[in-house]
Amino acid sequence: MNYDIADKSLAPGGKKRILWADKNMPVLQEIRARFEKEKPLAGRVMSACLHVTAETANLMRTLKAGGAELMLIASNPLSTQDDVAASLVEDYGIAVQAIHGEDTETYYKHVRAASARGPVITMDDGADLVSTIHKEFPDVAANVLGSMEETTTGVIRLRAMARDGALKFPVIAVNDARTKHFFDNRYGTGQSTLDGIIRATDMLIAGKKIVVAGYGWCAKGFSMRAKGHGAHVIVTEVDPVKALEAAMDGFEVMTMADAAPIGDLFCTLTGDINVIRPEHFEKMKDGAIVCNSGHFDVELDLPGLKKMAVEINKDVRFCTDEFVLESGKRIYVLAEGRLINLAAAEGHPADVMDMSFAVQALTSEWVLKQDGKLDVKVHEVPDEIDDYVSRLKLKTMDIQIDELTPEQVEYLNSWKIGT
Ligand code: ADE
Repeated sequence: MNYDIADKSLAPGGKKRILWADKNMPVLQEIRARFEKEKPLAGRVMSACLHVTAETANLMRTLKAGGAELMLIASNPLSTQDDVAASLVEDYGIAVQAIHGEDTETYYKHVRAASARGPVITMDDGADLVSTIHKEFPDVAANVLGSMEETTTGVIRLRAMARDGALKFPVIAVNDARTKHFFDNRYGTGQSTLDGIIRATDMLIAGKKIVVAGYGWCAKGFSMRAKGHGAHVIVTEVDPVKALEAAMDGFEVMTMADAAPIGDLFCTLTGDINVIRPEHFEKMKDGAIVCNSGHFDVELDLPGLKKMAVEINKDVRFCTDEFVLESGKRIYVLAEGRLINLAAAEGHPADVMDMSFAVQALTSEWVLKQDGKLDVKVHEVPDEIDDYVSRLKLKTMDIQIDELTPEQVEYLNSWKIGT
């Protein structure tokens, strides 16, 4: 098996984590049991570029049960759980190429290995695999039947490729499925971002002024959870509708320039570049903490901060670096500006990844059923998949819901009844 991991001896601990997560992934369990019988992915070469976590391991077990020939690589150098990677190789016979803390060269060596094996289906979290196949493996691109994208940032990249006429195979925006972003982006990011901040800093959230950059689904989740812990939450936005929404959700809304001198902690969740820049760092309080929970480590202008610093003290605490400015002020950067929820904590809890990864598994099956006839564009996940996942999730939570009566169905379909 073609694997590259940190240490195979970590497998027993990894297996415990995988099985613990699996207890809270009942939808995926049900899909796995069916895949085991029906083998809908039999013999298909698949490469997945995802965060290598216990939850992802359970997705990999499901795809393998469906008969896929799999390779898993990391979608971020700091999110890999080495014990999980070891268990996937040792206990489940799945080829993993991912090492926690790998440098950019190793990261791309793994991305190229996952590309070169000629997958017909790919999965991405951030579109690095799709973009490498497009740039460096044209023969492989010609045979990809479909590629699933897990995250908002990845979908934005793929839509840009489609707009430029650069897209060479069909992609499916798994992120945009309702059973994905309403839950994973909001409740998953909300909880895991706060978890990462607390694990890194051990700070009390109550009474702090927390500045949240962005008000998309992830930022909404984080703002809500920070407020729940007693923080005074300030939101910065560029989109007037989202800014209004934040204001009417009860948050203070202002520019980053105005928020900079006020905040105790800043967290970016925008998907855009250089959201906090030197002019903002300059105005911050002594001891201000900055972090990012967006996909790429571009939201904080860290090269700019490095230039301003007269001293940098690495690892003053777990995942925490200290930057001393000329004025003597100290600014703390968490997890090198990478995804705080996956670098300092364990990412979203299994209960929520259950739905996201159920959508991934079912969409892979759907792509193969289309038999190569999908148009080359960004596709939505079919509504039937959202319906199936939400109904099954409700069932596993022992929640029953009402059904429309025939009269209600008729009413909804008619236009004749009015005031
Ligand atoms: N993205 C966010 N949380 C995750 C997790 N626990 N596993 C995989 N991908 C994730």
